[in-house]
Amino acid sequence: MKILVATEKPFAKVAIDGIREVVENAGYELALLEKYTDKQQLLEAVANADALIVRSDIVDGEVLDAAKKLQIVVRAGAGYDNIDLEAATAHHVVAMNTPGQNSNAVAELALGMMVMAVRNMYNGTSGTELKGKKLGIHAFGNVGRNVARIAKGFGMEVFAYDAYCPDDVMLQSEVTPVHSANELYRTCDIVSLHIPATAETRNSINRALVSQMPKGALLVNTARKEVINEPELLQLMQERTDLRYVTDIMPVADADFRQFEGRYFATPKKMGAQTAEANINAGIAAAKQIVDFIENGNTKFQVNK
Ligand code: 3PG
Repeated sequence: MKILVATEKPFAKVAIDGIREVVENAGYELALLEKYTDKQQLLEAVANADALIVRSDIVDGEVLDAAKKLQIVVRAGAGYDNIDLEAATAHHVVAMNTPGQNSNAVAELALGMMVMAVRNMYNGTSGTELKGKKLGIHAFGNVGRNVARIAKGFGMEVFAYDAYCPDDVMLQSEVTPVHSANELYRTCDIVSLHIPATAETRNSINRALVSQMPKGALLVNTARKEVINEPELLQLMQERTDLRYVTDIMPVADADFRQFEGRYFATPKKMGAQTAEANINAGIAAAKQIVDFIENGNTKFQVNK
């Protein structure tokens, strides 16, 4: 049984050690394809793999066609928009994610990016504090809940909107539920995005929504670039010189956004989940899910049902 870890953005070595232990204890073989630069390398590496662990690596029909022996692909992380689920099902490949395993890392980065923005990108001028500010969490999943927990430590007033999450879950975390995205953006000084990239959310963070935010507003994106309507956000930032955007996912129009120096920042490479802890948690969970699927048929975390 051959398990391939194919990561264009590699895990920490300590996570690979942990993955190897799980794989070898099960009597399987581990293969590594890290920092690949060409899809062809993935197509070749996957040819004799029975199971595949990826991060944001694209697993499309071509990859699945090349993976003649593949039984299971696990996205070591939360968002699985990089996997063509229909193609996986058509190829009789089970697709899974590892929900919650890297969420604290992403949440810590979201708060870190907020501090950076309100302290004027650390340029030495007088900024503001997070304490007492209204934070809007857009989607109250695993990352959103961790953001709420940390933000409360900063003394922020925390609100959340999530069409799929009951109010009492938010209330238990002492978060004020609001019942529309419009209300969240109207209410909050800072909005932190934690929505997945789906057909429903693509381009949904648009001018109509963001323009409702109060003066001096800050939008923080540690979710996906696809959810932003970039042309509309660009136009709005041109009109509203108070509006700030910090993102862990570089926009397609990064060059255009750079005109807003001091109000715009993008990490060069998505690094929300790039911690040893998150790599260990998500990587080892992925390896264990593969072993449990192959040995016992456990499909608990399957996302292409
Ligand atoms: C996720 O969906 O789990 C995060 O966006 C992390 O993605 P990454 O593994 O590509 O860093």
